[in-house]
Amino acid sequence: MSRRPLVAGNWKMFKTRAEAVAWCADLRAGLAEADGVDLAVCPPATALADVAAALAGSGVGVWGQNVHQAESGAFTGEISTGMLAEAGATGSLLGHSERRALFNEHDDLLAEKVVACLEAGLEPVLCIGEMEYARDAGSTETILDGQLRSGLARASAEQIARITVAYEPVWAIGTGRTATPEMAQEAHAFIRGVLRDLAGDGADGIRILYGGSVKPENAAELTAQPDVDGALVGGASLDAASLLAIAAAARP
Ligand code: PGA
Repeated sequence: MSRRPLVAGNWKMFKTRAEAVAWCADLRAGLAEADGVDLAVCPPATALADVAAALAGSGVGVWGQNVHQAESGAFTGEISTGMLAEAGATGSLLGHSERRALFNEHDDLLAEKVVACLEAGLEPVLCIGEMEYARDAGSTETILDGQLRSGLARASAEQIARITVAYEPVWAIGTGRTATPEMAQEAHAFIRGVLRDLAGDGADGIRILYGGSVKPENAAELTAQPDVDGALVGGASLDAASLLAIAAAARP
């Protein structure tokens, strides 16, 4: 099955509202470069509604960087799926490695967030990836298998077919060290196998993005791999021209 490439930018805790809106204007001006590639951006929550308004009608997705699993409640500092959707989001990252490492997010919690997103009509983008010591110990596949099976434990096969997965080896995030295209393909093919086990043929339509120091210079060889369906880009997404160059490199 051919999957349309998807390139998403994760701004993390960068950009004021004004900076975010200026970025959207730059992106819109160059959108033709990304023809044939779906785009999405994850602004900080404060800029999300501005970004959604600035990108309205462009077809570019707007995702949260995180969301709470409950519909509402006494959860100081948190944002619900309904609030994200109302602000204009179409999806949300879940379980980014920084959320896992710095905010103690674990697979059981992510399983609740996956279903909460699906029920609210938001696309869950489940982030998984091994730490460096796990790769060195040869346990990458065990880690990925566990993260997928636990993180998707509450979703039905039909629901799983509607998610996006981002494979981000933790040792490659923000370090300038990218997985080789062969390493990425090997991990993505393994992930697709687990997804097939969980969602049957639906796994063929699931986009699996690679993340970790993706730049315009390395994007083409990574996204040329048969099971690499696009990229989740941190640092290089802060500049709209560089995200567009990555998208251009991912064109089929
Ligand atoms: P990076 O971040 O591209 O800066 O390595 C990727 C991510 O954290 O999603």
